[in-house]
Amino acid sequence: MNAATRALRLATRQRVCALVPQIQPLTRLSAARALHTSQSRQTKPRNPDPRDHPNTAHKPSIDENIGRKRFGDFNVAGKVFVVTGGAQGLGLTMAEALVEAGGKVYALDRAPEPDAQWSEAISRVLPEYGGSLHYRQQDVSDTAHLDELIASIASENGRLDGVVAAAGVQQVTPALDYGPDDVARMLEINYTGVFMTAQAAARQMFKYKTRGSICLIASMSGLVANKGLLSPVYNSSKAAVIQLARNLAMEWSPVWDDGSGGIRVNCISPGHILTPMVLKNFEEVPGLRETWEAENMMGRLAETTEFKGAVLFLLSGASSFMTGNNLVIDGGHTAW
Ligand SMILES: NC(=O)c1ccc[n+]([C@@H]2O[C@H](COP(=O)([O-])OP(=O)(O)OC[C@H]3O[C@@H](n4cnc5c(N)ncnc54)[C@H](O)[C@@H]3O)[C@@H](O)[C@H]2O)c1
Repeated sequence: MNAATRALRLATRQRVCALVPQIQPLTRLSAARALHTSQSRQTKPRNPDPRDHPNTAHKPSIDENIGRKRFGDFNVAGKVFVVTGGAQGLGLTMAEALVEAGGKVYALDRAPEPDAQWSEAISRVLPEYGGSLHYRQQDVSDTAHLDELIASIASENGRLDGVVAAAGVQQVTPALDYGPDDVARMLEINYTGVFMTAQAAARQMFKYKTRGSICLIASMSGLVANKGLLSPVYNSSKAAVIQLARNLAMEWSPVWDDGSGGIRVNCISPGHILTPMVLKNFEEVPGLRETWEAENMMGRLAETTEFKGAVLFLLSGASSFMTGNNLVIDGGHTAW
């Protein structure tokens, strides 16, 4: 580069710098406020430059994570987790996976009592693995109580390391027949409930500086329409969850001077799984099972147990460099 070109580039850069307002890194005060931001704020908080607040929290030491302990980065012994929608189906299996790996897991669900599958799950908890499974009745749309419950779980244990937001509902209705109340009811659980679960958990992770991991259960239905099933609101609620994960990851990743933050947020987007939710769909829509089995490359639907590894990966140190992303596990359904 000759001297004239260099001078021109320098001048251009200086002009651009003068035009772009300087982005102030968030102070601790504004970081705290970011969790309670009101629309009346004069100066809106901005995400800081990640290089000023690098998320070193999850950076593993090579000495620790290779060769010293067999797959030690998957170890969650002594960690505390919350799983919503944990009374049955995918939520319960994911809760069991974290227990099997040594975690203390609180399954939250609106059902007064967990499903019959629960007692089987409890019987599979082996004391020698060190984990435990607990049930708390909680509707995720009762956001005030949800926040209190998650705070009380964190306080009881002095920490909260992870949350899986799996509570969700499905409604099969043609788009022309949807009323606003039905739309609002579904979004209240599938979107707002997921958001408020993540927020309540993040508050405790900030408070206890646990640098936790948050896993939102979205769906491949957030990426494609489902052949054979009329579920426009469910599918768009899942698309919203995928987008939410990116934004929460961006806001909560920085590690602050006091050691708080460093929270990772990701989604899992499963394909069709044989759970009570899907079995109900099969009752409502004859032939649907066959349609769906033909739609993925593996010619079958998933079992809930096929997501155990994914949730353990996301909630343990094994996924230390993953945030703001979406793990699609769908038997190839969206790949062709
Ligand atoms: N089954 C599938 O094929 C499939 C595919 C992709 C994503 N998912 C998602 O996985 C998650 C679990 O689904 P599933 O198939 O196990 O369904 P499921 O109906 O078997 O289980 C869902 C659980 O969520 C609970 N729940 C519903 N509303 C709640 C609320 N307001 N508060 C607290 N708990 C509530 C239910 O009581 C139930 O125990 C959902 O988010 C679902 O959208 C499922």
